[in-house]
Amino acid sequence: MTFLRCAVLLSVALWFPSVALAGTVSSPDGRITATLETDGEGKPVWSVSRDGAMLVAPSTLGFNLQDEDPMRRNFAIVAEDEASADSTWEQPWGERRFVTDRHNEISATFRQQDELAREFTVRLRVFDNGVGFRYELPDRGETRIADELTEFNIAPEGEAWWIHSGDWNRYEQLYHNTPIDSVSVAHTPITFRLGDGTHLSLHEAALVDYSGMSLQRMEGQRFRSALAPASRGAKVVRQGAFTTPWRTLRIAEDAAGLVENDLELNLNEPNVLGDVSWVEPGKYIGIWWGMISNRWTWAQGDRHGATTERTKQYIDFAADNGFRGVLVEGWDYGWDGTWFGNGRDFSFTRAYPDFDLQEVAEYARTRGVRLIGHHETGGNIANYEAQLEDAMALYGQLGIDWVKTGYVADAGSIISCNADIADPCEGQVMEWHDGQRQVQHHLRVVQVAAANRVAVNPHEPVKDTGLRRTYPNWVSREGARGQEYNAWGAFNNGTDHEPTLVYTRMLSGPMDYTPGILSLKGDNDVPLASTRAKQLGLYLAIYSPIQMAADFIESLEQYPRELEFIRAVPAEWAESRLIAGEVGDYAIFARKDRNSNDWYAGGINDATARDVVIDFSFLENGVTYRASVWKDAADATYLTDARHNIAYDSFDVRAGEEHSFHLAPGGGLAIRLQPVQ
Ligand code: NOJ
Ligand code: CA
Repeated sequence: MTFLRCAVLLSVALWFPSVALAGTVSSPDGRITATLETDGEGKPVWSVSRDGAMLVAPSTLGFNLQDEDPMRRNFAIVAEDEASADSTWEQPWGERRFVTDRHNEISATFRQQDELAREFTVRLRVFDNGVGFRYELPDRGETRIADELTEFNIAPEGEAWWIHSGDWNRYEQLYHNTPIDSVSVAHTPITFRLGDGTHLSLHEAALVDYSGMSLQRMEGQRFRSALAPASRGAKVVRQGAFTTPWRTLRIAEDAAGLVENDLELNLNEPNVLGDVSWVEPGKYIGIWWGMISNRWTWAQGDRHGATTERTKQYIDFAADNGFRGVLVEGWDYGWDGTWFGNGRDFSFTRAYPDFDLQEVAEYARTRGVRLIGHHETGGNIANYEAQLEDAMALYGQLGIDWVKTGYVADAGSIISCNADIADPCEGQVMEWHDGQRQVQHHLRVVQVAAANRVAVNPHEPVKDTGLRRTYPNWVSREGARGQEYNAWGAFNNGTDHEPTLVYTRMLSGPMDYTPGILSLKGDNDVPLASTRAKQLGLYLAIYSPIQMAADFIESLEQYPRELEFIRAVPAEWAESRLIAGEVGDYAIFARKDRNSNDWYAGGINDATARDVVIDFSFLENGVTYRASVWKDAADATYLTDARHNIAYDSFDVRAGEEHSFHLAPGGGLAIRLQPVQ
């Protein structure tokens, strides 16, 4: 060692006499251990092992800043703290009523060992089913983040299910299934299955006033955080002290452990809205599939979908069949001409002449049904924000307490239109759907909606990071390739998509997938890659507190026995368990109703026919249940007209019994279990 280097080290030691080497914390059950430390270059790193075997090898922490040196090397831990928690909290609605938050925590403050002496704290929590950590930056004036240097260095080999990030169609893609070392740039959640059957999911929690995180593979199985860009300047700009979203890693023995996992919810702040009893889950129908399958139009004209008369028909159907809501799209000015990726003409308060908003709202009230509002922005969030207060107040006054929003725009969302020039959107500024600007926008919409007691369901949204805990009126969203794609081409979503969503997109939160296309037909009668039973199984596999029966009402009433199931199935649960399934193959859930003693079981299948044995031990001991079954007929297959072949069954069952059920190619299963009095 040269004299010079010795002198530097000595002076560092004199400046910072109490330098800790590493901080380690284990999960309450002792199996998972996470470490925060610095490597030989003073780079902050984190790592995770389970049962002594490395899961995440030492992985860098830090930031690239827009106009400062990176916060990357020459750090030491100068302070550490520990904490732990063991509590249970109640969800106002959801897949389960009670959530347990049991974790141990360590926080380590890293300080740069030179005259800059910049520092950040990493707070890391270890649960029995995962790890989450975030950065906390002290007040340093304005911080402009060019990128986060957080890495995720997955140690054991495995395969991944993932979608591309940065693509034109946002999250609306079919999933890739590749070796982990063949991923390119991926959105989160991304799912990994390791050689020994361990399942992992990387994601984030509490994405607030920050840019969404994708994962860029560097080499092998090493990923680095890639934040969504801003239209100009730094990816993230923050004033004063701030915290980043949590970076999260679910760790599970099997697919069920991945699904029955509340890691991100536990890392979000509790409800800030107070009494949210006005957020009511339920089911709905709508003036929607008609436009999606090109029979009606959103725009004015002969084929305009949203007429007063048709809406009243839908309200009558909803009232007669117990649906809470009727969605009406294309009721407001702005759809004529080009709206896709533009949205400059949208009014969120002015109805088309053939749609009498007041009359229809009044009619809904007399029939005990709620109208569901719709705000398509075409991505023009500046136009939307200018009308937001009025738009939500109007809905609030009319008793419209759910709104579906939309952000259809290719690259991102237009935010800047200059009202002083002839074409106000010339030179428009585009923002990514998961950039900081859009993240701020979504939260603003949810807050203004809450002030008017309206619940929000955004399509083309930013991904879900568990903020429904803090804002329980953020009930659902799209954020993946939904049922609508099935209208646009034969077998368009394929058979693997939904059984993949369960273990990928759905780990982030509820999805407005819009099941219930009982006719199994889209535009030009293209067939869905689904049996009829699968359209029912979707209600059990893909959770949303607002669940649509998406087909035309004329189609729904053609299948009264299936409609009976849709009418009965709850939209909020006391508990939910994945009782059989594998990523991308199939998913069978058992869920208990929140408002009765009924249980439901069922789910969805991919293209491989299989028989699943359901062990009914989830039922209450000693109670006999009447099972009503909607299942694939023996010859059902999504490939031919036999996709309509459904069989019904009914029998008594008790805890401890097992029954086998056949799942057709592209098939599904739905069982209602009611205690026998
Ligand atoms: C795309 C949404 O996913 C769909 O549900 C909606 O009907 C259209 N945009 C128009 O807003
Ligand atoms: Ca969409």
